[in-house]
Amino acid sequence: MQAKQRVLTGITTTGTPHLGNYLGALKPAVAASQQMDTDSFYFLADYHALIKCQDPQTVHRSGREIAAIWLALGLDTDKATFYRQSDIPEIPQLAWFLTCVTAKGMMNRAHAYKASVDENQRQSNADLDQGISMGLYSYPVLMAADILMFNAHQIPVGKDQIQHIEMCRDIAMRFNHTYGEHFVLPEAMVEEGEPKVLSGLDGRKMSKSYGNIIPLFAPADELRKLIFQITTNSLQPGEVKDPDTCTLFEIYSAFASHEETLAIRKAYANGIGWGDMKGQLFEYLNDYLTPARKRYDEIITDPAYIESELQKGAAKARAQSEPFMERLRSAVGIMSLVGDMGAKHTATKVKKELTQEEQAKVDAGKAKAMAIAKQRAEQEVLQLASQVDDLINTIEASSDPKVAGEEALLGLQVQIDGAKKKAKKNLQQTFQLLEQRLIS
Ligand code: TRP
Repeated sequence: MQAKQRVLTGITTTGTPHLGNYLGALKPAVAASQQMDTDSFYFLADYHALIKCQDPQTVHRSGREIAAIWLALGLDTDKATFYRQSDIPEIPQLAWFLTCVTAKGMMNRAHAYKASVDENQRQSNADLDQGISMGLYSYPVLMAADILMFNAHQIPVGKDQIQHIEMCRDIAMRFNHTYGEHFVLPEAMVEEGEPKVLSGLDGRKMSKSYGNIIPLFAPADELRKLIFQITTNSLQPGEVKDPDTCTLFEIYSAFASHEETLAIRKAYANGIGWGDMKGQLFEYLNDYLTPARKRYDEIITDPAYIESELQKGAAKARAQSEPFMERLRSAVGIMSLVGDMGAKHTATKVKKELTQEEQAKVDAGKAKAMAIAKQRAEQEVLQLASQVDDLINTIEASSDPKVAGEEALLGLQVQIDGAKKKAKKNLQQTFQLLEQRLIS
C-alpha cells in the first residue's frame, strides 16, 4: 500500500468561487498540497456539474475558470495530481460497478435527494420525485467512484458532504466483501468545531443561492462596489460598534493577522464610521487578492496552458486508474477470454519450468498459431494481388505511365510491408498469450 496519506477532493465546476469558498476550501487545499507527507489529488468534478447545470456553455466556461483559479492560487501541479474527472474514463466505469453493489435503500436516505423530496411534499406535488433526475439520486455513487478509484484516505469536505463519505465507506465495504479487499475505507476530513462560514453581502451565509457573494477574483472596482453594499446597522460615526455581529469585521478578520484584527477591534470601540471601515476592508482585501488576481487574468486568457496542465494531471491519474480498473474488471469477472490481459500491468511474473507435457502443448499451440498466421498472410497477399489488375488499368490510363507505375509500385510496397508487420505482431501476441496461460 502507499506509504503517504492520500488526500483527495473534488470541486464541482458550477458557479463562481467566492471569498467563502476560498477560505473554506481553496486556501487550505493549496496549503495541504505543499506538505511532504501527503499525496494530494484535486479534481474538477465536471460530471457532477451536469447534475446542476445543463447549459453546455456554462459547464465549459466554469471548468476553465475554476481550473484557472487553482493554478492562480499557486497549486503545485508537480506535487499534487490536478485533473479533470471527465479525462479519467475509468471513473464512470467504476461508478457502474459500485452502482451494482449499492443498496437502493441507502440511496433513498441521501440528504440531497431527501431535501428535494421534502420540497415536493411541501409544495403538495402529487409526484414526490418531480424534477429529480437519476443524476441527483445516484450522485453519491459517482462520488464514491471518484474517491475509491484512487484509494484516498482523507477527504476534506464540508459538513454537508459527510454523509456521502459514509455512503462511500458502505459501498467500498460491500464491494470488498463480495470481490476481495480492493478498496481503502476513506475518512471525511472536516474542520474541528464550528464550521467557519463567511457571511455574505446581506449578512446571511455567503452562498450563490442567496445571491450575496463576493467573487474571489472580482476586478478591483467591482470588489469595492460589493463591499460598499454590505449591510450594516444604522449607528453613526463616533458611536461604539460591536465587531462580533458585523459582517465587515468578520470578513476582515478572516483574512487579517491577529494583530491587524485587534487594531480594527479597537477602531470599532472608538466608533469608526461604516464608510471608513468599508474603505479599509476594500484596501485590505484588494492588496491581499491582487497578485493572485493578476495571475488569474493571465492564465484565463491562455486556455492552452490550462489544458496542458490538466492533461499532465490526467496522465498522472490514469497511470493509476488504468491498471487499477483492469484489476477490478478481473475481480468482477470481466476480462479477456484468452488469458490474463491484465498481466502486462501487474508485476512481472516468474516463468516456471515447463513440464514435458506443457512444453508439448506450447509447441503444438505455436505450430497452430503459425499455421493460422500463414493462412491470414496468404489472404492478404491474395487481396493485394487482386488490386494489381486495377493498378495496371490506372497506370495505362494515366498521362505519364512511368511516374504512375513507380507510384503504384511504391504504394504496393508500403502495403506489403504493413501486412508483414501486422502478421508478425499478430503472431507475437498469440505466442505471448499462449505463454501467459502456462505461467503460474
Ligand atoms: N460533491 C462534492 C461537492 O458538491 C464535490 C465532489 C465530487 C467531491 N466528487 C468528490 C468531494 C469526491 C470529495 C470527493 O462539494
